[in-house]
Amino acid sequence: MALLPFFGSIVAVVLSQLWNPLGLHLGYPVKVGGNMKKLTIFTKRLQARRDDIKAQIDIAERRHKTRKHKAKEWLQSVKAIEGEVKVIKHAYDERCRCCGEFSLDIIGKHRISRRAAKKLKQVMELFDRGGAFEEIAVELPLPSIEEMPIASAVIGMQSNLEKILRHLEDDKVGVVGVWGMGGVGKTTLLKSINNHLLADFESFCYDHVVCIAASKGCKLENLQLDIAEKIGLYLKQDSSITTSHTSTIFNLLKNKKFLLLLDDLWEPIDLAGVGIPQPNGTRNQKIVLTTRFEKVCGNMGVHTKIKLECVEPDNAWELFKNSVSEDTVNSDARIQSLARKVCRRCSGLPLALIFVGRSMSTKRTLQEWENAIASLENMRLSGNSCMKDAHPVLSTIRFSYDILEDEQTKRCFLTCALWPEGYSIWKVELVDFWMGLGLQPIRATIEDAYNEGFSRIERLKKACLLEDGDVSDKEV
Ligand SMILES: Nc1ncnc2c1ncn2[C@@H]1O[C@H](COP(=O)(O)OP(=O)(O)OP(=O)(O)O)[C@@H](O)[C@H]1O
Ligand SMILES: [Mg+2]
Repeated sequence: MALLPFFGSIVAVVLSQLWNPLGLHLGYPVKVGGNMKKLTIFTKRLQARRDDIKAQIDIAERRHKTRKHKAKEWLQSVKAIEGEVKVIKHAYDERCRCCGEFSLDIIGKHRISRRAAKKLKQVMELFDRGGAFEEIAVELPLPSIEEMPIASAVIGMQSNLEKILRHLEDDKVGVVGVWGMGGVGKTTLLKSINNHLLADFESFCYDHVVCIAASKGCKLENLQLDIAEKIGLYLKQDSSITTSHTSTIFNLLKNKKFLLLLDDLWEPIDLAGVGIPQPNGTRNQKIVLTTRFEKVCGNMGVHTKIKLECVEPDNAWELFKNSVSEDTVNSDARIQSLARKVCRRCSGLPLALIFVGRSMSTKRTLQEWENAIASLENMRLSGNSCMKDAHPVLSTIRFSYDILEDEQTKRCFLTCALWPEGYSIWKVELVDFWMGLGLQPIRATIEDAYNEGFSRIERLKKACLLEDGDVSDKEV
């Protein structure tokens, strides 16, 4: 009799051993919907963890680190399991479509549910393994493209913009050269391309759009530093040998899709020396360069070149009117007709239209406008300083300078040439300097003298002779 409970517990154990797998199998068809739902949810979680880890790896790679084998293998496993989950989901959707969610096809339901449950286990394991990687501080990745500020509303640039966009989609074109005289709008065109791409970035699928200026006398090392900064690439500081930078840049860019907007080339540069892979167009590696000189386009081996011309008369008038302000132009019918004459004298050169327009924005008398015409005419007639032949920037600065009202302000402006080119001057330092030279009279109080000096700076800014410095309210 005493053996009975003993046998009873053995039977219970045997039954439970039999029931567990049996119960599991019987449960599969019932739980098919639930298992599929769980599988979808956990796969999404896994994908989110995968995206975070990828972003961390991307940052680490830009800082000269290489992805660990562990991470590499994990990413491959995620990719593989994603495909497998897709197959199961497809099979489930198909089955639901054919037989409905509540069909009595127990065997079919059993098979899918079992596959889903197995896969769910693997997905969860993979998710946990991803979480066990060492934490890498999450930094914001650098944007692949950044909006560039454009000074004024761009007028009459659309057809050139469209031309270049077409070349960017043409496999036969790797390097586009844009050339034209100073002030015609080359930099503005590059910025417009950049901003256009920014608005529709997805459809162009570049990894990087990099806009840098070469400018006169620029050094290869500086170009390398500029490019590295834009693509967030770490260049070892101790490496004074540029060839090491060259290969670092090259190795990052060679497998990337990039657009390099290279502005203001004065002479040909050795792209390979900088580390830029020679774009042949087919791999979405493109360069658009600008220069004042057609021969630079030739020497850089561009596949196509575009000459940027001055704007059409209607657009020129629009640009001029915007710079002068409608109020001034419309203040008197005679001023309007003189303004049209002044505008024509600018020969459609955007830089001249803007400079001259802004200089005239405060002029409301006929005499002032007639003076302006005479002064522009003089420039045109006075040998090599004419508007067309001289450097247009110089001519327009000359015009703005000539029409300044008082000699004192003219002299004050000339002192700015004592600072290096492109230097931001402290406004206070500049006024101090004028006071020291006796160009800025000391008034009743020193504060009055400073105020007068500051308003002189504002007048020079209005005439486009000075512009804001690095710290816009304190420097020029
Ligand atoms: N189509 C345009 N519409 C409006 N403004 C323009 C246009 N083209 C140029 N500008 C303006 O004219 C000025 C000179 O243009 P930009 O700097 O682009 O000339 P550039 O050809 O690059 O000259 P440089 O050879 O000296 O570098 C800028 O203030 C710019 O904003
Ligand atoms: Mg330029």
